[in-house]
Amino acid sequence: MACRFLTPLLLLFAAAAATATFDSVPTTAFDEGYTLLFGDNNVVKSPDGRNVDLVLNRWSGSGFISSDLYHHGFFSASIKLPSDYTAGVVVAFYTSNGDIFEKTHDELDFEFLGNIRGRQWRIQTNVYGNGSTSRGREERYLLPFDPTEEAHRYSILWTAENIIFYIDEIPIREVLRSDAMGGDYPSKPMSLYATIWDGSTWATEGGKYKANYKYAPFVSEFSNLVLRGCRTSPLQEYPSAEGCAESDAELAAAEFSAMAPAKRAAMRRFRERYMTYSFCYDVQRYPITFPDCDVVPSEQEKFSRSGDVKVRLERIGRIRRRSNRRSRAPKRAVDGRQAQV
Ligand SMILES: *[C@@H]1O[C@H](CO)[C@@H](O)[C@H](O)[C@H]1NC(C)=O
Repeated sequence: MACRFLTPLLLLFAAAAATATFDSVPTTAFDEGYTLLFGDNNVVKSPDGRNVDLVLNRWSGSGFISSDLYHHGFFSASIKLPSDYTAGVVVAFYTSNGDIFEKTHDELDFEFLGNIRGRQWRIQTNVYGNGSTSRGREERYLLPFDPTEEAHRYSILWTAENIIFYIDEIPIREVLRSDAMGGDYPSKPMSLYATIWDGSTWATEGGKYKANYKYAPFVSEFSNLVLRGCRTSPLQEYPSAEGCAESDAELAAAEFSAMAPAKRAAMRRFRERYMTYSFCYDVQRYPITFPDCDVVPSEQEKFSRSGDVKVRLERIGRIRRRSNRRSRAPKRAVDGRQAQV
């Protein structure tokens, strides 16, 4: 039964991988576009600078940042997440200008919130504009694959009109700019960041499970690094429209900007099956509806007032895990936590 339910989307991911249009987007080697951010000893580059491992051990996490800021862009990386017991481990791939605009920063995040063995990684996306941190616009999802088994591509498109988060070539979230969103729509130049760090206090089930360094080092592998868009200097809060016109046009013409009906349908299917939390349905935290929320009554029924999905997706997560386990060598049971799944 699990197979019948999951196969269509897995096929979709397989088909997307076969077409692989994103693979033709030029990549940027580490030394051409990025610099070290922290934990320098834990950033391990391949000799050609095309692959970068970010390591978290008991002494430090690590991270890198784009050397320039971008005003709109397409940011992408293939990421293989650390496997085994990764509670408390956070891997993040995001754009931000928090270093420059402390009170009015913009940010677009992919956050991978580690997990205890036998359970799935969860992914969160956030959208902040002009310091709207009290309105994080968070969403969380399960994945139709095991992100620790091989690398998958995670991408963020940011234009003047919309934001699209992609997993492989499936859009999983789109935010359309509207006047009603006002400054909540990111509008100032941002840098691209990739980090791994210890988020024990909150990452895994609200901090219930902490990082356990018996399983360190935790290694997250980055490759296919893509940085497209209008490079700007940190001093230009709002770069001139002319200065970015050419690169905006290039972004608009690219495959990743086209939201054809089939892609939008794939996005809807992904969200129906894998989204486990949406700020749009979290009436406990946000009593007022956001202008960018497209509240679908049939979808809303699946979510409780805390914005969490009621049951269905949790069950899918377990089913998929079980069928995965069957196809692999049995893992040794390390502690009793697995039994709680
Ligand atoms: C961003 O926030 C600042 C400070 O709250 C405000 O003065 C400014 O008008 C806002 N910008 C936009 C575009 O909303």
